[in-house]
Amino acid sequence: MSPIGVFDSGYGGLTVLREIRRLMPQYDYLYLGDNARAPYGPRSFERVYEFTLQAVRHLFDMGCPLIVLACNTASAKALRSIQQRDLPLLFPSPVASSLPTRRVLGVIRPTVEAVGELTHTRHVGIVATQGTVASRTYELEMAKLHPDIVVTGQACPMWVPLVENGEADSPGADYFVRRDIQRLLARDPQIDTIILGCTHFPLLYNKVRACTPSSVQLISQGAYVARSLSDYLCRHSDIEGCLSRSGTARFLTTEQPGNFAPSAALFLGHAVEAEQISLT
Ligand code: DGL
Repeated sequence: MSPIGVFDSGYGGLTVLREIRRLMPQYDYLYLGDNARAPYGPRSFERVYEFTLQAVRHLFDMGCPLIVLACNTASAKALRSIQQRDLPLLFPSPVASSLPTRRVLGVIRPTVEAVGELTHTRHVGIVATQGTVASRTYELEMAKLHPDIVVTGQACPMWVPLVENGEADSPGADYFVRRDIQRLLARDPQIDTIILGCTHFPLLYNKVRACTPSSVQLISQGAYVARSLSDYLCRHSDIEGCLSRSGTARFLTTEQPGNFAPSAALFLGHAVEAEQISLT
């Protein structure tokens, strides 16, 4: 098996996996959630990088030629170092100046690419973990691709714990969602597009929609990441040709599988079985 690896700190990446599988059901997938150490949002750059690299190495050891970091926090804090420093050392290309033989992709670039077509006012809001917002990665990527777009990031530190603890539908979640959306829109009333810049947040979509003016569109990342991955595979036949195609999905977690399976079912809409692993 040479599956596509999909990694997140917890359950959030399942919202991305769902869209990737919808678009490309033919491939095999290996999902890894580091639930035992979630949330990553409040953790330092060093810690998020260390944990993400451990996960990436584990997925490579299990045969993945390509890994998607389906986590904005890991994409913001670890992706660049892994792409630029670790991969060329771990998997050097046989041909000088070409790419390493295994790849790791993130979720921020595909989202930023898509948003240029979606905003009319050119004022975009990002709701994300405090780690993603503090990294300013969205601002940096936006400045490269769409320098005319004004970006305002709003950290929502309570949203991931609400989702990880199965409280996304509870009345208690309304307070935090409403408060953070109001804070964001007060900082820039011209925002016409809000990116749900954390893969956990699609689970709060209905609550966000309920407290956001209808003139403001909400962007969930999964479909954009899936489309971008499909384009990537079309352009990189060296990697695409290595992938196995039995249409399977396997789930790994660093927590109790008995906890993972029912929560994962909420994200995916169908039952799954999970296996426990440890990362070092
Ligand atoms: N799902 C992750 C993200 O997209 C993050 C969460 C966390 O562990 O704080 O940022």
